[in-house]
Amino acid sequence: MLPSLIAALLLPVAANAAGKLTIDEVASRYGLSTNFNFSQPSGQLDSGGAQKYLVKNWNLNGDHIDFGLNDISFVNDPAGDKGDAVLKINYPKGSYSGQTGGTQFYAQPLNATSSTPHLAGNATSDGQFERMLLAYDIYFDEGFQWNLGGKLPGLRGGSDVFSCSGGHQTDGTKCFSTRLMWRSSGNGEVYAYIPTTKNFCQQNSYVICNSDFGTSIERGAFGFQSGKWQTIWLYVALNTPGIDNGELAIWYNGVNAFQLNELNFRSSASIESIGGLYFSTFFGGYDSSWASPSSQNTYYRNVQLIGGLGAANGTGKPSAARAAVASPTLAAVCGATLVSVLALVSHFI
Ligand SMILES: *[C@@H]1O[C@H](CO)[C@@H](O)[C@H](O)[C@H]1NC(C)=O
Ligand SMILES: *[C@@H]1O[C@H](CO)[C@@H](O)[C@H](O)[C@H]1NC(C)=O
Ligand SMILES: *[C@@H]1O[C@H](CO)[C@@H](O)[C@H](O)[C@H]1NC(C)=O
Ligand SMILES: *[C@@H]1O[C@H](CO)[C@@H](O)[C@H](O)[C@H]1NC(C)=O
Repeated sequence: MLPSLIAALLLPVAANAAGKLTIDEVASRYGLSTNFNFSQPSGQLDSGGAQKYLVKNWNLNGDHIDFGLNDISFVNDPAGDKGDAVLKINYPKGSYSGQTGGTQFYAQPLNATSSTPHLAGNATSDGQFERMLLAYDIYFDEGFQWNLGGKLPGLRGGSDVFSCSGGHQTDGTKCFSTRLMWRSSGNGEVYAYIPTTKNFCQQNSYVICNSDFGTSIERGAFGFQSGKWQTIWLYVALNTPGIDNGELAIWYNGVNAFQLNELNFRSSASIESIGGLYFSTFFGGYDSSWASPSSQNTYYRNVQLIGGLGAANGTGKPSAARAAVASPTLAAVCGATLVSVLALVSHFI
């Protein structure tokens, strides 16, 4: 056997933190085989053209873009690289959450359930991609003003395609989401809507639970930079229902930023699959302190999904009882009116 092959067999994921991997190496490690490359047009498209292009080619759930129709376009590469036009997302000055800037849509090209009208490529499974890698290149405008932070594309799954964002918590039976976020100074993290417990939140230093919103995971394990292309790979393997063995990992420019093998994304097999790309990006955050200080942009290219069969198979602790916390203290203090206003405002957090 070749020494390098022996080394590859002996060394677990963590040992590769020092070195770069190719996406094929990561895909092969996790047995990911069903691939979809999101296409880009060869020429620039204004917002109307971009909208039509995405609906036609990106397999959007319900052929629908949730918001941001004016904030999407395809433009020449901001770094001057040759090739296809890249997807540009604008954040108007003062925009934060509430559909005021950025965009959101759910793309499911690997959704291979029998009812799927847009079955992509050779996806032949019964729709149960319990493990999936999302890859994309991202570019922030030179001198991007990060302010407090904003959402970035990630993965989602489950039959409820609207919750698991915007403060709509999960009980682990209908949805989960794992978007990325940038925070102050470009610090990166995964921002997840997953079932949590007090113990999970209190006993793990990599976690910051936000009482009625999502859960921040590994904040600062990697950092975004402005004015250059960077490559993100996000890997999720759903836990075995009842066991906390779910896997979550990020590679930044091919280098492993973190790998966790003890997470709970679902309490039930009713979340049977990772559905696909949750392209959700905007500043915020639930109030104007999160607003974009100026009109600025992010750009995306080489977006791809690679799905695989089978849930995470590591040993894990049995899941403790978990429940979505509907923030009873807030309700008690503020009264129902304010809570419903908050629920509206927070719909896209
Ligand atoms: C568990 O999954 C990994 C891929 O993530 C695979 O390499 C390994 O063979 C699996 N182990 C078992 C016992 O199925
Ligand atoms: C997607 O692009 C990669 C190169 O980035 C290529 O290796 C792969 O074959 C492509 N997949 C499909 C289904 O076209
Ligand atoms: C994926 O499958 C689900 C369940 O059958 C369906 O609701 C959804 O519209 C499908 N997505 C696409 C893009 O067709
Ligand atoms: C589907 O599979 C066929 C034969 O196995 C292959 O020729 C073709 O390139 C595949 N298509 C995609 C999109 O992967």
